[in-house]
Amino acid sequence: MEKLGVGVIGCGMISGNHFHALEKLENVSLRAVCDVDEEKLQKAAEAQGADGYVHWRELICRDDIDAVHICVPHYLHAEMSIFALRAGKHVLCEKPMGVSLGEARAMEAAALESGKTLTVCFQNRYNGASRRMKELIGSGALGQVLGGSAFVTWNRAEPYYQNSPWRGKWETEGGSVLINQAVHTLDLLRYLAGEMTLRGCTMSAKRLADTIETEDTCDMLLTNSAGGRFLFYASNCGANNLPVQMHLLLEKGELHLDGARLTIKGPEGTAFEDYTTALAVGKDYWGSGHGPFIQDFYRRIQAGQPPFITPADALETTRLLEEAYTYPMSIRRRPT
Ligand SMILES: NC(=O)c1ccc[n+]([C@@H]2O[C@H](COP(=O)([O-])OP(=O)(O)OC[C@H]3O[C@@H](n4cnc5c(N)ncnc54)[C@H](O)[C@@H]3O)[C@@H](O)[C@H]2O)c1
Repeated sequence: MEKLGVGVIGCGMISGNHFHALEKLENVSLRAVCDVDEEKLQKAAEAQGADGYVHWRELICRDDIDAVHICVPHYLHAEMSIFALRAGKHVLCEKPMGVSLGEARAMEAAALESGKTLTVCFQNRYNGASRRMKELIGSGALGQVLGGSAFVTWNRAEPYYQNSPWRGKWETEGGSVLINQAVHTLDLLRYLAGEMTLRGCTMSAKRLADTIETEDTCDMLLTNSAGGRFLFYASNCGANNLPVQMHLLLEKGELHLDGARLTIKGPEGTAFEDYTTALAVGKDYWGSGHGPFIQDFYRRIQAGQPPFITPADALETTRLLEEAYTYPMSIRRRPT
């Protein structure tokens, strides 16, 4: 089978996870990389043996590029994804799916019109523990999900924002702890417990009020279609990066996720399962999902199948973000 030609746009922190995953695939060939930062570009081009571009449109328009990975600041996701889809390329876009619901809808429409694949990188759905939770819930053995809670308590200090000027701004990051760090856990919650309705939300900047214009702390009350109540809390004010915690209460049991460790309580008793994997690349809190996610993206393209995370699915996570950022009770609100 002919190899698919790939381009990666954005050679910053997360690009290493994409390069590492691509290196392991036999059915794709990384042909080009792009970054406006020429130092990063040169380093990535040399390390990957790929052609380097400063202008992203030039990379996308190359005839031998079939798919692009969008690994740039949030405010560029929609523009680059839409351009690439219209140019007939498949798109794997890092999270989030745009900085607003309007952008996510435009991305979905471009994918539908082009007939090309668009997916959004919620790689945590591919973590071993996530897959196990989905399987257990799907089997019905524990009954419906009746409620739960999720906690993302991480540590992002001033330099994280000061050294990366696109972060901490409404226009370029679109928010902070919720849209950037906790979006994975919010996505996972709706993936596991069903579509969520936002019932309450508070956003504030506690630790980083002088550094960022967005939120460093967010709490939400959500309900699912079964009427279950979910508490969601995320903050970058933590002393360190604690493992993500998620607790789901089901009709006949409970699931407790502590990072990669899962406790299953059911009619038969309690079981502990550990899905910790040694990471070859990236930060622990990014998890191990990029490899299987990217592999599955290409497998499905070559099999003529839709992506596992469709645009319509990813859009629902952006809908929740939009509702949270514009919630009337929010202390911090995105300017209109
Ligand atoms: N899935 C995950 O777990 C995960 C983890 C970290 C980051 N991310 C996402 O990856 C994306 C990038 O984050 P990062 O941490 O790598 O940021 P970063 O700032 O380290 O890297 C972004 C890169 O994009 C480049 N860039 C900016 N404008 C550009 C343009 N017009 N054309 C080409 N390149 C341009 C920058 O020079 C920089 O090198 C974000 O969407 C972020 O949310 C995802």
